[in-house]
Amino acid sequence: MVSNTLYAAYDVLPTGVLLVGDDGHVIYLNSAAETLIGLSGTLLVGQPFEGLFGHNTELVAAINAARETNETVTEHDLPIQVNGHPPVRVSCTVLVHDCPGCSFLLELRPVDQRLRIARQENIRAQQEASRELLRNLAHEIKNPLGGIRGAAQLLEHELSRESLREYTQVIIKEADRLQSLMERLLTPHRIPKMSLVNIHEVLERVRSLLLAETPRGISIRRDYDISLPEIKADSEQLIQAVLNVARNAVQAMKGEGELIFRTRAARQVTLGNRRHRLAMRVDIIDNGPGIPEALREQIFFPLVSGREGGSGLGLPLAQTLIAQNNGEIEFDSMPGQTVFSLYFPI
Ligand SMILES: Nc1ncnc2c1ncn2[C@@H]1O[C@H](COP(=O)(O)OP(=O)(O)O)[C@@H](O)[C@H]1O
Ligand SMILES: [Mg+2]
Repeated sequence: MVSNTLYAAYDVLPTGVLLVGDDGHVIYLNSAAETLIGLSGTLLVGQPFEGLFGHNTELVAAINAARETNETVTEHDLPIQVNGHPPVRVSCTVLVHDCPGCSFLLELRPVDQRLRIARQENIRAQQEASRELLRNLAHEIKNPLGGIRGAAQLLEHELSRESLREYTQVIIKEADRLQSLMERLLTPHRIPKMSLVNIHEVLERVRSLLLAETPRGISIRRDYDISLPEIKADSEQLIQAVLNVARNAVQAMKGEGELIFRTRAARQVTLGNRRHRLAMRVDIIDNGPGIPEALREQIFFPLVSGREGGSGLGLPLAQTLIAQNNGEIEFDSMPGQTVFSLYFPI
């Protein structure tokens, strides 16, 4: 039997982990798995998996499927029952490779975590819908706006009194302002041009762009994992996305503070319903005041801004661009520390 201390690191994980050895016996389960299944490890470790779990047909089918294809299999809502205890419903991933000394590994999550993902999907769908609505609206507003501006210009030529021009100028200027807002609502629909991109070159570009426009009291520190491989992406789009996120941070810090660009490898990440064994995480961290509580649920919706003179288009555009590059963006914010994390598959 393998010593449990080997797997001590699993014990701090919030997801349940259960390992089955080459001989078909349970060799280890972490405390999250004990809690989920409702049985202590001492009762299960050393017992044959087949005898304990064999009657859970859906689970067995998932394990068989993983073995046959030699790939990771995830079942989202699986009943598991052991030793006559009431069944629990879990979301279960079976890993057959990358599991030294064991025949397979089960990763178990309570179903509410799946609901959380479903809720995120729901929010994403709403954001998508509201963006689509705005795009259509912007499209409809653009044409008559051109007509209004043109008519105001013609009218201006016909005016007999110079003092009346003030009014036509208001019409023209406001039409121009609306026009540029509409343009910005309409832009992001370019098909990405994918190539191999070094994320650190992207970050360095953003850094120098930002430093050029940033007050002296703000510094940008780098904390890069330079061993990360290149990713397949559209570098212009990534620059735009990171710039939008980082610029918000600079603006929030109001002239004084520190920004950190951090890159790391991330393991076992679910991006848009697909699980990736390896992904890249880019954190943009600031020590400003944090995102106002009332805005937190909404900042990825278009036209939501907490800033005087803000358009509320920066983050929705960043999110669209990141999604076009198969990535995801999320954030965690409290006063003194806001982290926006961008994930990309490797
Ligand atoms: N790092 C940050 N710290 C504090 N607030 C932030 C941060 N990033 C974004 N926000 C909030 O999210 C809002 C929306 O950002 P964005 O979509 O870029 O629109 P805009 O910058 O035009 O307001 C900002 O107005 C700000 O209130
Ligand atoms: Mg912004």
